[in-house]
Amino acid sequence: MQKLPPLILATRNAHKTEEIRHLLGHCFEVMDVTSFPDLPEIEETGTTFLENARLKALGISSRIDGWVLADDSGLEVDALDGEPGVYSSSYGGEEGNHTLNNQRLLKEMAGKENRSARFRCTLVLAKSGEEKGVFRGTVDGNIADNASGTGGFGYDPLFIPAGHDSSLADLGAEIKSTLSHRANAIRTFTEAVESGKII
Ligand code: IMP
Repeated sequence: MQKLPPLILATRNAHKTEEIRHLLGHCFEVMDVTSFPDLPEIEETGTTFLENARLKALGISSRIDGWVLADDSGLEVDALDGEPGVYSSSYGGEEGNHTLNNQRLLKEMAGKENRSARFRCTLVLAKSGEEKGVFRGTVDGNIADNASGTGGFGYDPLFIPAGHDSSLADLGAEIKSTLSHRANAIRTFTEAVESGKII
């Protein structure tokens, strides 16, 4: 592969950065917007993962030089008609409070027989305020009856990926990096880079 430029992630979520750096670190220098303290917070006012990823990718890349990759992701639960979806990070009532989010999810799922769910990730690549690509990934699974495990972040203690008996938080970073929605989206991104279609 040709020598690649640095990639700036449009996130302040250290867990997302760590996961994407682990997935891409062999071919890109991966930074995030914490290296640019003057950048404004981009409001996620969209109603889809794509709209929010676009807002972040275009909002950041129009203010700094270089390639910007934005991740918008969340959990869709079938018995809750797709909730919490794009509102995953504030489901418990307080933005980014994973404990409250998991508590609310367990409460909403009490007594529900259908536990099927999936994580979705949409990535938007942008440069100079222009969109350069969209990449998506999902992982199917089930919502556990109780939280378990200390790895990962967010809903990982409650999400049991299809084909496994333990939560993503129990399975740990190495296994998560082979099957997660983010890993699958990053795979389509790297395939596009390797085929010379982008960057
Ligand atoms: P975003 O930062 O607006 O994309 O919100 C993402 C939210 O979805 C996070 O705050 C988590 O609640 C949830 N989420 C996304 N990806 C993951 C994951 O890999 N594990 C667990 N929860 C996730």
